[in-house]
Amino acid sequence: MRISVIGCGYLGAVHAACMAKLGHDVVGIDVDETKIKDLAGAKAPFYEPGLEELLAEVQTTGRLTFSTELSAAEGSHVHFICVGTPQKKGENAADLSYVNAALHGLVPYLSPGDLVVGKSTVPVGTATRLAEVVEESEPAAHLLWNPEFLREGHAVADTLSPDRLVYGIEGGSEEHPAVQKLDEVYAASIQAGTPRLVTDLPTAELVKTAANSFLATKISFINAMAELCDAVGADVTLLADAIGMDNRIGRRFLNAGIGFGGGCLPKDIRAFMARAGELGADQALTFLREVDAINMRRRSRVVELTRELCDGSLLGKRITVLGAAFKPESDDVRDSPALSVAAQLQLQGAVVTVTDPEALANAARRFPELHYEHVTESALTRANAVLLLTEWQEYRDLDPYEAAALVSTCKILDGRNVLDPSKWRAAGWTYRGLGRP
Ligand code: UDX
Repeated sequence: MRISVIGCGYLGAVHAACMAKLGHDVVGIDVDETKIKDLAGAKAPFYEPGLEELLAEVQTTGRLTFSTELSAAEGSHVHFICVGTPQKKGENAADLSYVNAALHGLVPYLSPGDLVVGKSTVPVGTATRLAEVVEESEPAAHLLWNPEFLREGHAVADTLSPDRLVYGIEGGSEEHPAVQKLDEVYAASIQAGTPRLVTDLPTAELVKTAANSFLATKISFINAMAELCDAVGADVTLLADAIGMDNRIGRRFLNAGIGFGGGCLPKDIRAFMARAGELGADQALTFLREVDAINMRRRSRVVELTRELCDGSLLGKRITVLGAAFKPESDDVRDSPALSVAAQLQLQGAVVTVTDPEALANAARRFPELHYEHVTESALTRANAVLLLTEWQEYRDLDPYEAAALVSTCKILDGRNVLDPSKWRAAGWTYRGLGRP
């Protein structure tokens, strides 16, 4: 099938490459010329394991091309909208200008029978409005909402073998021709047994925001438990293991630490609250305000604990921060809790050195005033305190004896609760976790 993918960010670039892998003829479109040039040269514009190999593989087949012109979408039968919906500056709501621009730019190139598939995360009600725009311009084309659940760091696998496919279509009927068409696009996944649910448009939009809100709530729940554990000297990691064994609860997303960040969870829960307010249903989501507040409190808690570790004063203390990305296997620093903590420590007078295997260039663009060091050993040298804030495998595997030989004072704050406290203490370190005695 001939497919266009509009927007080649995290979502679109991976989606375009994966659709070509599935055997389709794909054109990826983005207004950013550098991004398109990179992608056309099989270079991923961001770090995502497996993406560059996949780009190189599918480009040899000739099935994947890139363009900066929306006119390149003409002749495709299925058009995926994959542009970003960031948080609006100064408010909680989502900025829909890229989605609106993409759709309005696309409609002149639609032909009868074409299918427009929305994948961006949008406030509920958006898809119905966009379906009207499609209908007015090309009455024989359809719009379907197909939310994307991919995780950064696992984006290729999540796209090729998703947990589920959700199709939102006006009327929510399985018999709709748009459903059959999208089934053809995803034939390989469906044959492999991926469950597929057909819903109406608002339900499909809500599935995505509800899923992200649930994940954020789960993380903030365990972080609230970490606060209690700290108050009584209990261990939140064992608490999570024990409650996680109840398969109604499940152990995943119960890792207490410095909280969630990234380009999705924080902005999605805020946009969801804003949208609920517009719909007169804000009471239904007031709990998300608390979820957000617990999450942001983690960052100040880490700053306070670091001050304690540094004998009550941060002034002039050399602090090494291990990790800048919002999570491992990513170079994304959008709303990264690690980087936010590093910046706060610097503002309070500490001399902060940040290291990360992949995210330093992005971090330096965001916070140019911090000191960055590529080599872990150099970053650790002469530190008064070490903070593990993004749990890259390299940091989990650090040898406490070798690290002790580099630092000035053996003090470590494990912001992700991934180190073995007894091992580090045995090597002479003062170890602090979050919600751990
Ligand atoms: C998320 C959703 O998981 C994905 O389905 C959606 O499509 C986009 O948003 P992503 O932003 O890639 O994906 O990251 P995710 O793996 O969900 O982690 C989000 C944040 O939560 C990270 O900062 C991570 O460190 C943190 N986290 C995760 C915790 O603090 N504790 C946990 O137990 C799990």
